[in-house]
Amino acid sequence: MLRRSVPVVAIAIVLTACNPSGFGPATFDSIAVDTTLAPTTTSPPASTTTTAAPPPPSDVADLLGLGDSLYPELGNSGYEVNHYSVDLTFDPEPKTITARVEIEATATQPLAAFSLDFIGFDIADITIDGDPVSFTRQDGELIIEPNATITADQQFVTAVSYTGTPAPIVSQAIPIEMGWRTDPTGINYVVSEPDAGRSWLPVNDHPSDKATYSFRITVPDPLVAAANGVLVERLTDLGWATWVWESAQPMASYLATVVIGDLEITEDEASTATSGVAVRNVLPDGISSNSLAVLDKQGEMLEFFADVFGPYPFDAYGIAVVDGFESALENQTLSIFGTYMVESPRLFETVLVHELAHQWFGNSITPTDWGDIWLNEGFATYAEWLWIEHTEGPAAMAATVGGNYRQMGLASDLDPPGNPPADDLFNASVYVRGGLVLHALRSEVGDDAFFEILLTYAAEYRNGGVRTADFIELSESVSGQDLTDLFDSWLYGDELPTLP
Ligand code: TRP
Ligand code: ZN
Repeated sequence: MLRRSVPVVAIAIVLTACNPSGFGPATFDSIAVDTTLAPTTTSPPASTTTTAAPPPPSDVADLLGLGDSLYPELGNSGYEVNHYSVDLTFDPEPKTITARVEIEATATQPLAAFSLDFIGFDIADITIDGDPVSFTRQDGELIIEPNATITADQQFVTAVSYTGTPAPIVSQAIPIEMGWRTDPTGINYVVSEPDAGRSWLPVNDHPSDKATYSFRITVPDPLVAAANGVLVERLTDLGWATWVWESAQPMASYLATVVIGDLEITEDEASTATSGVAVRNVLPDGISSNSLAVLDKQGEMLEFFADVFGPYPFDAYGIAVVDGFESALENQTLSIFGTYMVESPRLFETVLVHELAHQWFGNSITPTDWGDIWLNEGFATYAEWLWIEHTEGPAAMAATVGGNYRQMGLASDLDPPGNPPADDLFNASVYVRGGLVLHALRSEVGDDAFFEILLTYAAEYRNGGVRTADFIELSESVSGQDLTDLFDSWLYGDELPTLP
């Protein structure tokens, strides 16, 4: 493994195990990935619960999906979700969920029927504005028929009650288990990017429809239940504890998470004081003091990136650590790390930076099409290089950029970062050549314009949605330069352009 290839760690595991290009640190070769695992559903066929329902109206067909360039069937059209209220009880023995999710949405057109994305579980009932409605299920779609057509612009609340045993699914995009997972120590956690949100919540499972979330997670006392956002309160009742978390800024469904287990929520007061952001981590026992020393740098990292990208976009930040997880994922306000990443200090620091940078790029500023994933991974990778520049100086950064460029040169079979394949969404090109796009941009427009571009972009699209064309247009207007050739060649060209 090249030392300088560390930046792709967050996903290198997946690449090495599954990507024919074999890109990524060789040390991860031994990670076993069970690609034979079939998608698991735990409920009986939907027809057993919905035999009385008439077939879905034919006009729902064009509402199944949002036309994503890579995953056209994901998400649903006809409405936009404003808020999800998740009330979920989890019993680790025998591993069952009993949940009620309320979905507050606004219709964007008249709806005789509409769909949500949802896989597995037994649905007990569904109501709209309190009235029971009929529904059918097919291929991960939950098709709901209101008793009367919902009118355009109408706000309506759909409540879905369900029970069952959560199980991970395998996405087309990465061959690892995603959704609800149980680690070898008994910690339960959710990792969903890009499309496993629907394996535990009925959602509009596409990042173009972000919404705010409230979570009430009930678990046996004294287990901890963490979720995205800020802990509002913890209530106890006869051996159970309900943990109430609030995500007041909009969030994409792939970033929603819970982490449940024998864990401790640790306030990091020093990082909070340094950064002005409430920093809390969700940790198991037995993390080494070496690892904790690296974790303590989150305050400085938050401070540095608030300078470079503008104010941190959410109300809190921290990480959760779980065992047996091959990677790390930037769940909103609560990134999740596998234990082995935490144990290697150099790797840990790099991935801490990477997942933190995603809070701006990906979580706050969210691509509205999965084909624009380089706007997440390229920016988070470039943030790693900025941190090296900040902590070790420009020469160290230049060496890192050069090492990554050479790695890309060896991976000539990979698609350019602006055109990722649907079955290998998180390939190394998206990360490394995606990061090099920003290196090339900075060389072309100069430091002043480049950092102005980053700040303007982060401010303009804060807590919203973005496409690649928006970033290009903004870069051109801030710099006053025509950047067509630069973006065309770096994002879409078959050949890797020359490193500036
Ligand atoms: N976005 C993750 C990263 O920071 C990579 C990733 C995508 C991932 N989907 C995942 C990791 C699912 C774990 C599970 O690089
Ligand atoms: Zn990433």
